[in-house]
Amino acid sequence: MNALFDMDEEDARARHTKLAKEIARHDALYHGEDNPEISDADYDALRRELEALEKDYPELKSEVSEKVGTAPSRKFEKVQHSVRMLSLSNVFNEEEVVDFLDRIRRFLNLSDDEKIEIVAEPKIDGLSCSLRYEKGKLVKAATRGDGSVGEDITANVKTIADIPHDIKADVPDIIDIRGEIYMKRDDFVALNSALEEDGKKLFANPRNAAAGSVRQLNPEITKSRPLSFFGYALGEVSSPIAKTQEGIRKQLDAWGFQLTKPSDILTDVAGIMDFYKKLAELRPDLQYEIDGIVYKVNRLDWQERLGFVSRAPRWATAHKFPAEKAITILKDIDIQVGRTGTLTPVARLEPITVGGVVVSNATLHNEDEIERKGVMIGDHVEIQRAGDVIPQIVRVIEGKRPVDARAFVFPDHCPVCGSEAIREEGEVARRCTGGLICEAQAVERLKHFVSKGAFDIDGLGAKIVEEFYTDNIIKSPVDIFRLEDINAKLKTPLQEREGWGALSTQNLFAAIDARRMIALHRFIYALGIRQVGEATAKRFARTYKTFENFRNAMERAHDSESDAYAELLNIDDIGPSVAKDVTAFFHEPHNKDILDKLSALLTIEEAEILDNSDSPFAGKTVVFTGGLEKMSRAEAKALAERLGAKVAGSVSKKTDFVVAGEGSGSKLKKASELGVTVLDEEKWLALSAT
Ligand code: IVH
Repeated sequence: MNALFDMDEEDARARHTKLAKEIARHDALYHGEDNPEISDADYDALRRELEALEKDYPELKSEVSEKVGTAPSRKFEKVQHSVRMLSLSNVFNEEEVVDFLDRIRRFLNLSDDEKIEIVAEPKIDGLSCSLRYEKGKLVKAATRGDGSVGEDITANVKTIADIPHDIKADVPDIIDIRGEIYMKRDDFVALNSALEEDGKKLFANPRNAAAGSVRQLNPEITKSRPLSFFGYALGEVSSPIAKTQEGIRKQLDAWGFQLTKPSDILTDVAGIMDFYKKLAELRPDLQYEIDGIVYKVNRLDWQERLGFVSRAPRWATAHKFPAEKAITILKDIDIQVGRTGTLTPVARLEPITVGGVVVSNATLHNEDEIERKGVMIGDHVEIQRAGDVIPQIVRVIEGKRPVDARAFVFPDHCPVCGSEAIREEGEVARRCTGGLICEAQAVERLKHFVSKGAFDIDGLGAKIVEEFYTDNIIKSPVDIFRLEDINAKLKTPLQEREGWGALSTQNLFAAIDARRMIALHRFIYALGIRQVGEATAKRFARTYKTFENFRNAMERAHDSESDAYAELLNIDDIGPSVAKDVTAFFHEPHNKDILDKLSALLTIEEAEILDNSDSPFAGKTVVFTGGLEKMSRAEAKALAERLGAKVAGSVSKKTDFVVAGEGSGSKLKKASELGVTVLDEEKWLALSAT
C-alpha cells in the first residue's frame, strides 16, 4: 500500500465517521422532533455520499450506516387526485349566511318558496386526506397537496385506528373518501407532556401535531401517535352511493367511519343561526378543537350543478367562529411595498398571544384606515385574529394614550426606491411610481412568478427567491431560466452555499427545466398584471389560445378604438379597468423586452379545452341573451365554460352560438343578421347534456 492510498483510507474513515454521525443526528431531528434542520435533498446527498464511501471501503460499514442505508427515502411519492380536493369559502356573520343561501338560490334559479336543505357539521382544523378504496380495499391515502397533486401517505394512514382497511356492503368499485386527520384535545396534551419529558420540542397546537405525525417517513412513529379521522365528503366514485349529503354521512357511518357531530339538516337562516349558537356554546366541551361549522347543500344533484369557483365549491361554506381578540401596544408603523407598488402600513406590536399564536405585526390596510381609526404610535390597540387571515387592528383603547404618542405621517415617496408615491383619484391605495426600478416590487413580482398558481418551481419558494435576489443571482424572471449559466459564473456557486450541495443544486436545475413548458393560463397569471388573478388568466387563455395571439391582441387593444379592444371588453367579466391594466402592461417597453426573452426560453403551451372536448360547445364562443327558465344566467355560463366554451357578452362574426331566452332583443336580431346559430333554452339544455 502506498502512502497516498493510506492517506485516502484514513480520510475516508474520518469522513465516514463524520457522515454517520451527521445522518444519525438529522434522523433524530426529523423523525423524533419533527424539526429538520436541512432539506430532504441535502439529507439524500449525505446518505448517497455515505453509500459511495462504503462501496469503495466495505470494511467501514457500521451498524449506524447499515440502519441509515436502509432507511426509506425521505421523499413522499406524488399522487394525482382524479377529482380535485377543494378548500372552502368563509362566512363570518348572519348577513353572509344569507348571501350564501341567496347566491345558491339565484344560481339554481329556485323560487322563493323552494326549501334549500343545508347539512351543518363542525369544522375541524386538521389535515385533509383522500382515501381511495378499490373493491372495498384501502389502496391509497394522499394529502391534499396543491389540490391536484398530493403526497402518498398510505403506509402512515394504515396505522390510524379510525380508518377501515376494508369496507364491505354496497361499495362501488372505486371510491375516494375524504376527511380530516386530527388529534383529540386530550391526546394532544398527553403527547406534548410525553415529548416534554423526553426533552423534545413541543407542538404548538393539535393541528400541527396531527400534520407532523402523519408526515413521517417511518410509519412506526405515526402509529405511536394518537391520531383520529373523520369522513365528510367524496372524491371520485364509480357509481353513486347516495342522493344527498346526509345519505353520504349515513353510508360512511355504516362503513365504520367516524363523523363530526353534532350535525343537523336546516332549512332556513334562523335554524342555521340557532345551530351556530348552540355549537359555539358546546365548543369548549367537545373532544376536539373546531374552528367553525361547515354548511353543505344536501341535494347532491344541486351540488353538482353548483360546481365550484376557483378553489372552493359554491355548494358549501365554512361559518367561522369569531376572531380572537387581545389588547397590546402599537410600537411603530412600517410601510410595505407590494408587487404592484401598493404601499401598505403594517403595525409593529408589542408581541402578544392571541388564540395560541404570538402576534407581533398587524395590517392597517391603507392611509384612510389609520385616519378612520385614529391610531397613533404608542396607543393601546385591540387586535384580532381569525383563522389564517393576517391579524388586524380593530380599535384604539381610549384613555390610555401616552403623552409622547405621535401621529403617523403617511409617506408620499416609496420607502424602498424613493420614487414618488401617488394616490389616484378614487383609489384607496397609494402606489409607488418606481415600476421596475423599485426593488420591493421586483422581489414581490418574482415571488409571485414562482408562486403556486404560477410557475410553482420545486425548491424555489419565496424565501429562496428573496435570498437569490439580495445576492444578485436572480434579478428578473428571465434569470431563473438562465440560472445554470449564471451559476457557472458566480464567485460562490450555489453548490457551495450554506445549506446547498451538488445534489440540491442539480435538483433545482431539473425542477426549473421541468417548468420550461408551461400552461398558457399559468404563464399569464405569473406575469403579475394588476387585477389578473387565476380565473381571469384562464379566461384569457381560453379566449386567445396561444400566447402570441394574446400578446398581439393586447398590443393592438392599447388603442381603445381598435377591434382588439372591443373584443377584449367582450370577454365575460372583463371591464375597462382590467382592460386598462392589461393593455398598459403589454405596452410597456421593459415588459416587452422581458416577454421576448421569456418566450425564447420557454414553451408556452396552447390552451387546451378543459373538459368534454366531445361537447358541441368545446372551443366555441357562446353568447347568452334573455332570461332562461330552468337555470340562472350564472349557471348557464358556468356550465358553458365547463364544457370548454368561451362566453362572450355581445354578438359578432366570431360568435358560434347565441342562446336566446325569454325577451331577447337586439342580440338575437344581430345573430340572425350575421347568420349565427341561435338556440332556444330547450335546445341549449339538450346539447349541453351531450
Ligand atoms: S367539506 C369541497 N367538511 O376544511 C370541500 N371540510 O378550510 C369539502 N374541513 O379543505 C370539504 N372539517 O379540509 C368539509 N366537516 C367538514 C370539514 C372540512 C374540516 C376542512 C377541509 C377543507 C378545509 C377548508
